[in-house]
Amino acid sequence: MSQYDKFAKEYIAMRSNMFDQNMNAEFPEMLQLLGDIKSQKLLDLGCGFGDYVKIYSKKGAIVTAVDNSEKEIEHAQKLNIPNAKFIVSDISKKFPFKDSSFDIITSSLVFDHLEDLIYLFQECNRVLKNKGIMVFSVSNPVFYQEKSIVGKIKILGKKIIFGNYFERRKIVRKWGGTATMEHYHKPLEDYFSAFLENGFELLSFKEPQSKTEKITWHCKNPTFLVFKLKKSYIANKPK
Ligand SMILES: C[S@@+](CC[C@H](N)C(=O)[O-])C[C@H]1O[C@@H](n2cnc3c(N)ncnc32)[C@H](O)[C@@H]1O
Repeated sequence: MSQYDKFAKEYIAMRSNMFDQNMNAEFPEMLQLLGDIKSQKLLDLGCGFGDYVKIYSKKGAIVTAVDNSEKEIEHAQKLNIPNAKFIVSDISKKFPFKDSSFDIITSSLVFDHLEDLIYLFQECNRVLKNKGIMVFSVSNPVFYQEKSIVGKIKILGKKIIFGNYFERRKIVRKWGGTATMEHYHKPLEDYFSAFLENGFELLSFKEPQSKTEKITWHCKNPTFLVFKLKKSYIANKPK
């Protein structure tokens, strides 16, 4: 069972809130960087419950969407989104697709959960067509850490506790009542070296800002990071 399966219902309810920070800050930037996706074969990695896939489909993309949460995929399938296919699959392993299958890869806030970025970008490079585009977002690792004893700083009256940014590690956080959420903390340079050394060039890098007054924290801090890449050469295949 994937970790999101344990709290899928609560997660879907939380994300469907109109003041959802992702929908207000991160996703508009993803769409801006993607540009025209009409008739493009698009692979969405870690698609969750399908809300972004709905929009990619409306914009004319032919979408294949994968996630390792069976419950979220079940929810997404019930949406009957045109030109969209949902698959349960673990993207930390070999992708179930042939080489050069897609024009575009998207992924929103999923790579934080993966430990091995080199394997990931090699797989993305393999299934993407030559000169294909990849647009993905991650939570800013500066802010996305567990509580730690390293330092305490007050921002906007809130006590923010930073951990050791440079230490690569697995972080387990409480989610909701009893569930836990795991991710792998890694410094930003790990993302840059993983894609730059595995067949991609960087076309754009953004720090989206929420425009919704209700979300004060996200209006004033770069909690999300969005990258646009182009496949520039064929990378080594993962072992
Ligand atoms: C923060 S949610 C984002 C969902 C969706 N992209 C969105 O923005 O609405 C992270 C998603 O990544 C998925 N995920 C985490 N690890 C994964 C893995 N190894 N393989 C496939 N999906 C994974 C989770 O199940 C979850 O749906």
